[in-house]
Amino acid sequence: MDIVIELPDDPARPAYQRLAEAIRESILGGRFRAGERLPPTRVLAGNLSLARNTVLEAYAQLIAEGYLAARHGSGTFVAPDLPDRAFRAESIAANVARDGQGAPPRLSGFARRLVAGEVPTAIDEETQRPTDFEFRYGTPSFDEFPIDAWRTLTKRVLDYPPKELLGYGPTQGLPQLREALARYLQRSRGVRCDANQVLVVNGSQQALDVGARVLIDPGDVVAIEDPGYRGARAVFQAMGARVMPVPCDNEGIVVDAIPDEARVIYVTPSHQFPTGAVMSASRRLELLARASRTGAVIIEDDYDSEFRYEGRPLAALQGLDEGGRVIYTGTLSKVLLPALRLGYMVAPPSLQPAITGAKWLTDRHVALLYQAVLALFIDEGHFERHLRRMRKVYETRRSTLLTAFAEHFGSRAAITGTESGMHVLVNIQGVSDADSFIETARASGVGIYSARSYYLGSPPAGASFLMGYSSVNEDGIRRGIEILAKVAGTRP
Ligand SMILES: Cc1ncc(COP(=O)(O)O)c(C=O)c1O
Repeated sequence: MDIVIELPDDPARPAYQRLAEAIRESILGGRFRAGERLPPTRVLAGNLSLARNTVLEAYAQLIAEGYLAARHGSGTFVAPDLPDRAFRAESIAANVARDGQGAPPRLSGFARRLVAGEVPTAIDEETQRPTDFEFRYGTPSFDEFPIDAWRTLTKRVLDYPPKELLGYGPTQGLPQLREALARYLQRSRGVRCDANQVLVVNGSQQALDVGARVLIDPGDVVAIEDPGYRGARAVFQAMGARVMPVPCDNEGIVVDAIPDEARVIYVTPSHQFPTGAVMSASRRLELLARASRTGAVIIEDDYDSEFRYEGRPLAALQGLDEGGRVIYTGTLSKVLLPALRLGYMVAPPSLQPAITGAKWLTDRHVALLYQAVLALFIDEGHFERHLRRMRKVYETRRSTLLTAFAEHFGSRAAITGTESGMHVLVNIQGVSDADSFIETARASGVGIYSARSYYLGSPPAGASFLMGYSSVNEDGIRRGIEILAKVAGTRP
């Protein structure tokens, strides 16, 4: 190992003393840890262009001072009983002090808007410790992930990885994955696309970011659903857009309330986030007609429509679009795992060059090995098999949740958005302080989350909660709701 040690520039002092001082400083500064092995004297002497004797003398000095210890036959080590933590704390404190000197770096307009607004990475709930019965939105059931199939396919890819998986790859994504996704989206979601229009992204959050980059200048109007998805709102705000909240009813976004000057309209038509409303066919046509009249681009976020339990599935809005006005995005986070960071984006051909360019600038492309595994996973039928299975699992969890609410809360709980997805919106009457309700529930082992922050305008009366049920098993759902009922005082 080459080692970087700078000797103090003081020709009046012998080199061994300067070297000893530099090593001592490195130990105190936390660059060497207690017990760590130092380079052999011959190696260090070669690295620093010093005589070996100089290094021997420096080591001997530090051994005498107690900083180093020699172990016969195995080398020289930082003394194991040095209070390692204290030294590192000291070095961190020194760095912080150094950083505190002078003015902080100037932030760009983007960063200023980002930190002034809502930064979803800082959302408290993401950093909270999970409770016993965690009704957090958006987490699939980890236990049901088909790990064996995924492992077999990963091994197959890794056993003989073709060269094209080991270097830089195509920005849009691996051709085999784009083909597989295009076929799946045509077949299951009625998306009209060919593989050339599919861009593989690191989760659909990246699709929102890339879409916003290529469509929005500071000051442009973006219409978003209210209530709506915070991760989208934050992207548009950070980009400097004038974000206009548009109300939603039980057919989705109220098209007449969309401002004519909106350049971009962000919608979740298959399962409005968070209310769960499904956009009616007539509303879809109305929205498309509006966009084509005003020249707006619609971003359709189809984040969880794979899980539909009631009624006929409605095809994606994108499939009805005749004018190339819709960017369609979807994610593997809900149907497989969020940790994979895999999503896709289908854009009209006119936007392809800009979108591909923006994606390249951000991160060149998504990791190729997992793209290859996912392509096999889809092509060999695992994906749709998994979907069929999970639909049943989540449907059972959903009915368990609805039954438990009916049993314990009766008419005090109004539940919406039950037709599809992995969450419902629950409004509980008689809870005067939602925050303390959430806190008491947490203390009793139940994690629930307020829906308030999804509303830009005024939230509905009473206490509303966004309840994900996908990662809690049936027994957990029953026990969790029973505890909630006790907290709410509907049960002794
Ligand atoms: C409505 C909606 N859109 C997009 C996303 C982003 O998902 P991901 O970036 O994991 O694909 C989420 C995640 O929860 C979501 O709820």
